Amino acid sequence: MIVGINEIVNKIKSKFTQTPTTGIVLGSGLTLLDKDIKEKIKFSYNEIQGFPEPSVDGHLGELILGDFSSEKVVIANGRYHLYEGFDLETIILPIKVFKALGVKNLILTNSAGSIKKDNIPGTFMVSVGHLDCTYIDDAEIPILSKSKKFHSTRLITIAFEAARYSGIKLVEGIYAWTLGPSYETPAEIEFIKKLGADAVGMSTVPEIRAASRLGMNILTISCLTNYAAGVSTKPISHDHVISVSSANSNKLNILLKEIILRITNENH
Ligand code: HPA
Repeated sequence: MIVGINEIVNKIKSKFTQTPTTGIVLGSGLTLLDKDIKEKIKFSYNEIQGFPEPSVDGHLGELILGDFSSEKVVIANGRYHLYEGFDLETIILPIKVFKALGVKNLILTNSAGSIKKDNIPGTFMVSVGHLDCTYIDDAEIPILSKSKKFHSTRLITIAFEAARYSGIKLVEGIYAWTLGPSYETPAEIEFIKKLGADAVGMSTVPEIRAASRLGMNILTISCLTNYAAGVSTKPISHDHVISVSSANSNKLNILLKEIILRITNENH
């Protein structure tokens, strides 16, 4: 469907007249504390033209605008995945809307499987690079992208300062994007590990690419919810992923508040 970004933005601006400078996409089961978002306006995705309802549990389908920490923010509470049958245009629509609203800094969050034994479930990982392991571009072998236009060095530094200040464990690593919806096999994880990945998930890379084309500063934070297949023999389920990300949302809330505070202070 061809969607007019202007129409969407006009509708949002008719209710929220300020300019959000930071955009946040929340991954599976990850939420922010309602009480921490002040003066907010909420749109259910079904009120916005071209925004289908997400079909995956743990993705609410809600766009929230308001004050979070020290900034005006826009939050996509729910994302779209290729495995749900959405096309790439739909997946990146929230990012295009963020840009049209004035967003300069984008924080993408997701739930991911940990490939490294040292990064136990519940650890947060900031991406310093990504791998596209979907093979949808006819690529023969996934290429590692570490450019700062995809992973802002400045925002990564801020994230580590915020984590240190809050006493939250944050590690850095490479995020590998797989198509899903089934979890990987141990052999696939072994291969992805050899390519240099530290975490694996089924989202985010299309949003990173779109935001980079649109000139945004990008930060990606993964909540490592489980050991990837073969790293542990424990079975992986979406319910378990959601329960671990929900249990760690409070920590994410603290971390994001501190990150945004530092972004604001830099801008003044
Ligand atoms: N693999 C892919 N996606 C995921 C995983 C995983 O182990 N955990 C959470 N999302």
